[in-house]
Amino acid sequence: MDALVSLSKRRGFIFQSSEIYGGTGSCWDYGPLGVELKQNIKRIWWRDYIQRRPDMMGLDASILMHPTVWKASGHVDNFTDPMVDCLECRRRFRADKIDETPWVHYCPATKGNKFTIPAGEPCSHCGVTRTLCPECGKGELTPPRQFNLMFKTFMGPVEEDASLTYLRPETAQGIFVNFDNVLQSMRRKLPFGIGQIGKAFRNEITPGNFIFRSREFEQMEIEFFVNPLETVEGRPADEYWHERWIEDSMAWFRRYGLSEENLRLREHEADELAHYAKRTADIEYRFPIGWSELMGIANRTDFDLKQHAKFSGKTLTYFDEERKEHVVPYVIEPSAGVDRALLAFLADAYREEEVRGEKRVVLRFHPELAPLKVAVLPLLKKREDIVRTAHAIRDELSKDWTVVYDDTAAIGRLYRRQDEVGTPYCVTVDVQTVGDQAKGEVGDGKVTIRDRDSMEQIRVSLDALGSVFLELLGGAAWASVAGRFERKGDG
Ligand code: GAP
Repeated sequence: MDALVSLSKRRGFIFQSSEIYGGTGSCWDYGPLGVELKQNIKRIWWRDYIQRRPDMMGLDASILMHPTVWKASGHVDNFTDPMVDCLECRRRFRADKIDETPWVHYCPATKGNKFTIPAGEPCSHCGVTRTLCPECGKGELTPPRQFNLMFKTFMGPVEEDASLTYLRPETAQGIFVNFDNVLQSMRRKLPFGIGQIGKAFRNEITPGNFIFRSREFEQMEIEFFVNPLETVEGRPADEYWHERWIEDSMAWFRRYGLSEENLRLREHEADELAHYAKRTADIEYRFPIGWSELMGIANRTDFDLKQHAKFSGKTLTYFDEERKEHVVPYVIEPSAGVDRALLAFLADAYREEEVRGEKRVVLRFHPELAPLKVAVLPLLKKREDIVRTAHAIRDELSKDWTVVYDDTAAIGRLYRRQDEVGTPYCVTVDVQTVGDQAKGEVGDGKVTIRDRDSMEQIRVSLDALGSVFLELLGGAAWASVAGRFERKGDG
């Protein structure tokens, strides 16, 4: 995790929010490369799930909603974590997670020496287990109290209870309250889904582990509405679609680079299920902090639509033409965090390799995710014709992709810099490309393309550059393209 945090800051992926003021410990800012990576994750999600599927539609609901939404959804009463406070240092902890962090102990068996003891373990000198504050090691803790995770705010100029509302803690409710609007305006038949990407806010008691748990984050959520009266392949429609979404979501993460051995499915136990859920499965990823939730896929039944119908007094049903009756659809909810997905893609892509006796740090991002697709590098920055050609290539390629020009170091170092941010291809313009007028030599009009992963290089004519990148960035394997061109030594 330290390597990822350090790389993220050094190379412009992720910065701590308000850092010059000492930082807000639980909020993060995405830098120039981080925002590209994040946009790419959201773009492929939207393309794969909304644009390409005939049974899906998009939505962009507002963050501030009617306060009754949160009463109906159960968040006002149930969206709580048990919290304890240290009476000495005043720090606050989640009661159910307190034994998951190392704890500070002043051991009486060693004249009160201070030790930091691994999470959940007793002191190896005196044998006691933690009862005091894990952070300061001195304070008694208060009994647990329920703490609501929603951020409160006020609508309008007067700060009074009547104008109290909340920053949404999930994007899902924006979809439920628009169910009828979408149904009526788009005239869909069940099953269909509505997807949304947007910010969510939770006043987490113990945020942390970089962007894994923050107080402001983004979600990519789908509410997939199915007819509970129908069966598919001999199974109730909700159970069939739940299974389909689990398989689909797993395959999606694998397709964009998460390794099989770092992904697993975890079924929620009966006592762990949310009050609205018939079944929930989490896709877990082996983050640097250990196996943890990457996304959840819940069968929310008809709970939300029924609750909103009850609280709003509106009918939120679907007319089943075949059976001539109104039904309340069941809902399958694949819900992923953008930031958590980004952390997983970053962690999985990160490699430290040894190349010709030197350490090479490389982010082996899937090309669709890579923040920069191509870097154009002039071999000699003093040669005006080389520099001009390199700029022209950058300008041309940047009509379709995110491309940078860099001439701030020698070529070997420029390659390493691009490896470290995961740029799949570099294009080098050299003397051979443009020729040497002084010597009466004509250039061959070819440039070198270097592949990040294999470090192999090929010579490609300027005319063919656009179509070659169309192939490579469109998903063609390097080997299948490189075979058609003249090879150069590895770069
Ligand atoms: N609508 C259902 C829902 O919000 P959730 O499991 O609470 O379910 C869904 O959240 C996903 O949102 C999680 O799997 C995780 O990826 C992301 N997420 C939740 N809380 C987060 C936080 N504090 N920081 C970053 N991501 C978070």
